[in-house]
Amino acid sequence: MAKLTRLLTLALPLLVAGCAVELQNTEMVARERAQLAGPSGSVYTGWRIFQDKCAACHGSAATGGKGAPDLLQRVREIGPHRFVSLVLTRYDWNLPALPAADVAREAALEAILQRQQGALTMPAWQGEPSVNVHIADLYAYLSARAAGTQGPGRPAP
Ligand code: HEC
Repeated sequence: MAKLTRLLTLALPLLVAGCAVELQNTEMVARERAQLAGPSGSVYTGWRIFQDKCAACHGSAATGGKGAPDLLQRVREIGPHRFVSLVLTRYDWNLPALPAADVAREAALEAILQRQQGALTMPAWQGEPSVNVHIADLYAYLSARAAGTQGPGRPAP
């Protein structure tokens, strides 16, 4: 019994700390979302951050690069909320529902594994202040690119 109590005393703070981190992340995403709902970001600032942090993989025009997808089509589809979650929180593989037939299932699994073995994985940016405070700017830039109101070049400041 004493042993169990000691174990609990040791484990409890760890558990609580874990929850606190979890909570902090949720709060941060909520804050970023509120920011997105508020005054819209700056296309120019978004472009700058994009060139600095994202273009190496997604291409300087956001139309895709070596191993990272074209973001324009995606941004059109996912909307601001999913964008924030995808970029800031741990990037989870959007696993498609696996087909039941063995052959198709094997092929689908193979495709997923190959992607995961690829050298490039999308980083999670929530711990990166230069990205997370500019998430609304990034979205402003990418959605303007997606809408065609912003070309591939440098926006006016
Ligand atoms: C190290 C390379 C790399 C960098 C840097 C990078 N990404 Fe990605 N990103 C990827 C890869 C690879 C994927 C596709 C993952 C997959 O196939 O599911 C991806 C996926 C995404 C997606 C989801 C697209 C989809 O189809 O669901 C978004 C949105 C995105 N990136 C935005 C960004 C933004 C914004 C930045 C800069 C802050 C950035 N990325 C920086 C490699 C990168």
